Amino acid sequence: MSEPVQTPQTFPTRIFSGIQPSGGLTLGNYLGALKRFVEKQDEGIETIYCLVDMHAITVFQDPVRLRQQTREAAAGFIAAGIDPARSILFNQSQVSAHVELAWIFNCVARMGWMSRMTQFKDKAGKNSENVSLGLFAYPSLMAADIMAYKATHVPVGEDQKQHLELCRDIAIKFNNDYKVDFFPVVEPVIEGAATRVMSLRDGTVKMSKSDPSDQSRINLTDDADTIAKKIRRAKTDPEPLPDSVEGLKGRPEARNLVNIYAALAGHTPAQVIRDFGGAQFGTFKPALADLAVAKLEPITTEMSRLMQDPAEIDRILGEGAVRADAVARPIIDQVYDILGMIRSRQV
Ligand code: AMP
Ligand code: TRP
Repeated sequence: MSEPVQTPQTFPTRIFSGIQPSGGLTLGNYLGALKRFVEKQDEGIETIYCLVDMHAITVFQDPVRLRQQTREAAAGFIAAGIDPARSILFNQSQVSAHVELAWIFNCVARMGWMSRMTQFKDKAGKNSENVSLGLFAYPSLMAADIMAYKATHVPVGEDQKQHLELCRDIAIKFNNDYKVDFFPVVEPVIEGAATRVMSLRDGTVKMSKSDPSDQSRINLTDDADTIAKKIRRAKTDPEPLPDSVEGLKGRPEARNLVNIYAALAGHTPAQVIRDFGGAQFGTFKPALADLAVAKLEPITTEMSRLMQDPAEIDRILGEGAVRADAVARPIIDQVYDILGMIRSRQV
């Protein structure tokens, strides 16, 4: 790992992360999360990746679409390089440890902490009286996802930083309340040039699967033509690219396209500016479109191949769930014991 491991030696490095199957995967998910999930797996670290269907239902999901999107997300993970033999890949609702620990964490987390979560405030907006209780408790379930495995490192995009701080607070309070050194204090892993991929229509808002405009995002299911078109039509300003990264200041759309190029190419933004500084978007956009198609098309193609056999995807998720359960169950049993709950049921 690149950053120092600050958790005690008693907690071996274990990666956990999740993605909601509440829509198709976007380029933001790919660059901010998925691509880095694969890197961690390939570094030989123990990796556990979860399609968080229980999080998805904090806002209503059509059952038919949820099932389809969960399979599609699983196919996206595998197509992007997650190997179900080396990583544990499963959907959250198949492992009950998550919701069991979430309830316990609901009793540890404080109302004040939860009320400060900016993602809740953004999602609830003026409508906070009418959103689900689950949406408010969402970060507590997320902390449970991670702590059910005593994971030490969580690769995510920038938008999840506050949720991971909450996870740390919950773990610390649990340890203090029960006078144990049981849960690790998790380290966010927010790395790379694209920790916050922005909308192609507005460089000040995040690219998101829930944006009403499909033009705002690149989906992992988009074909080459669609990807190229969306990039060509992406909002920009009339200036050419600057000669230094500092020149991107105050130019959110230009910065976003440079960051996307950098992340796709595996370069730094400074390297991209070295190659394209002074270029017009008329030159840069086609180069970016070619790069995006070259990187994404093999994933899209593999994803649609995998989607032709949904039973095989379900089998992989089921097998992953059994392995996940084997890690989480003993941890949850110890938690019940720490809490003083009687566990005398035979079978
Ligand atoms: P979600 O789609 O909200 O479940 O997000 C799943 C993962 O993708 C999380 O680690 C997010 O931080 C990451 N992610 C989502 N959208 C973006 C984006 N626009 N830029 C970078 N990372 C993102
Ligand atoms: N909240 C995350 C998101 O929307 C998804 C998520 C749920 C997650 N549980 C997690 C991410 C645990 C990392 C670890 O992006």
